[in-house]
Amino acid sequence: MTSNEIRQRFLNFFAKRGHAVLPSASLVPENDPTVLFNTAGMQPLVPYLLGQKHPQGNRLVDAQKCIRTGDIDDVGDNRHLTFFEMLGNWSLGDYFKKEAINWSYEFLTSKEEGLGLDPSRLYVTVFKGENGIPRDDESIKIWQEVFGAHDLSHEVAGEDEFVNKNIRVIPLGTDDNFWIAGAIGPCGGDTEIFYDTRPEDGELSGKFGDLVDSFRLIEIWNNVFMEFNKTAEGKYEKLVSQNVDTGMGLERTTAVINGKNTVFETDLFIPILNKIDEFAVSSDDQSKRAKFIVADHIKAAVFMIADGVIPANTDQGYVLRRLLRRAVRFGDQLKLTPGALSSIADVVIEMYEESYPNLKAQDEYIKKEIKKEEQKFWETLSDGFHEYHKLLLKNQNIFDGEIAYTLFTSYGFPFEVALDIVKEEGVKISEDTSDVFSALMKKHQDLSRAGAEKKFKGGLADTSEMSVRYHTATHLLNEALHRVLGEHVTQKGSNITPERMRFDFAHSQKMTDEEKKKAEDLVNEKIAEGLEVSFAELPKEEALKTNARHNFGEKYGDIVKVYTIKNKDGEIFSQEFCGGPHVQNTSELGKFKIVKEEAVSAGVRRIKAVLE
Ligand code: ALA
Repeated sequence: MTSNEIRQRFLNFFAKRGHAVLPSASLVPENDPTVLFNTAGMQPLVPYLLGQKHPQGNRLVDAQKCIRTGDIDDVGDNRHLTFFEMLGNWSLGDYFKKEAINWSYEFLTSKEEGLGLDPSRLYVTVFKGENGIPRDDESIKIWQEVFGAHDLSHEVAGEDEFVNKNIRVIPLGTDDNFWIAGAIGPCGGDTEIFYDTRPEDGELSGKFGDLVDSFRLIEIWNNVFMEFNKTAEGKYEKLVSQNVDTGMGLERTTAVINGKNTVFETDLFIPILNKIDEFAVSSDDQSKRAKFIVADHIKAAVFMIADGVIPANTDQGYVLRRLLRRAVRFGDQLKLTPGALSSIADVVIEMYEESYPNLKAQDEYIKKEIKKEEQKFWETLSDGFHEYHKLLLKNQNIFDGEIAYTLFTSYGFPFEVALDIVKEEGVKISEDTSDVFSALMKKHQDLSRAGAEKKFKGGLADTSEMSVRYHTATHLLNEALHRVLGEHVTQKGSNITPERMRFDFAHSQKMTDEEKKKAEDLVNEKIAEGLEVSFAELPKEEALKTNARHNFGEKYGDIVKVYTIKNKDGEIFSQEFCGGPHVQNTSELGKFKIVKEEAVSAGVRRIKAVLE
């Protein structure tokens, strides 16, 4: 059965039973600041589970796009994915346990309307009661009736959680059978349905947990009976109504139904993997994992971009950036040719064309964003790699928080990406890496905040004519260095007095005389051209959409000032987030001269320059 058919059957089954079919909500939650992405079908429905009336009624069904990155390191095994679809049906104070359990059974086993699974291969867990909430005897009884009506054994497991062909109902505690999306919110005991994937291994018998760990039993569906709202104080308050929230992972179900061991052997991945194979050169086991990772991450990225996320250094944008950069890296292991990622994205867009038309509608845009980030990362990587090996050598081949910090601040290497690389290379990692990295980041932020205030009081607030000129010269030099040395030369700091300017930037080797001359000439050329310096005040989101240079990781206000210097032909020469002030025309600057170029720390250079 194809995944499209499974999805459609699920929606039809519940539509026929009075459920309104909802389209998937965006991956980015609209009204829930506690999560970056929807991680379960119930998330967009939280207000309704808490009692608000849903415009479509009390019975709902959908296939919801979800992102979970908690297990990102496990992606590439047979089950973990960052993007998946969750099929779910909801009762908002309408039906409860009896209907939910009966319909679950019917959908899973019916050949006509459902998945046609062999009922003797189903096992279920129920909530055994904990934290003052009693055991779910009602669900146990309903399951026993359902199994009994179909002549199936249905004994209940004891405390030893031992299961065999007669024992089909297993009561478990809060860790397994009590569901809540995060720390607070609607929640309740649940019943989970497992499928015996390997009857050929002989009669099923053993401790439940062991059978799950060996993947013989695989969970395919969760029915949560939401009766409580967990408050910030940790109290379980009764909800105004008893709700049902269910979730069935489409990818995993598709694998199970088709007798496949991994989600990557299903139609939700095969076309993507085939495309990767067209570009990849190696095909050993290591590369198999890399292919899975590229396939998963590009799929997730396509859906994120279609839902309005753009690569950035914070929030959703950071997750997207991390996924894309991991895809680039694992793609590199496969020796994918440049541009391969957009072709892979094409396949994803095509595969989901019917179910998610917003992909096709933004086809070119999605591919452009992927390509842009890919390019950016290649530049970052090659500089960072060089530096990383140098830093490692200096540190007796032990990776630590300080190296991670330098890589992040100087080369934009996301912390997790650096860790991934280090782990793969089998390099020793200092135990306090994460703590040291966080501490340095915090100090860095505090320093730049203090620095900004000081600058504001001293440098920038000093609007003496000379300082203002130096300030504009700094923008010209920043741009000139990018053009002469490359995009990696992020600004690391600047300091202005009425006598001179100082500019620190990321670059790992000494500038040659020729490079210095080129940069100096370019600044003087722009001064000679007499270009207008203008600014606009934009909402932060708008400003971030421009290509204006700014400090990644810095927290900007809601409205930011963007200064622009345009060439005579109207093309932007320099654009930066900046509080100003600046001269009105570059012709006011005089002659620019670099007086010194030196190292300040590993990977950071400093230029001192004057205006004559
Ligand atoms: N909300 C439940 C889950 O995600 C159904 O497993």
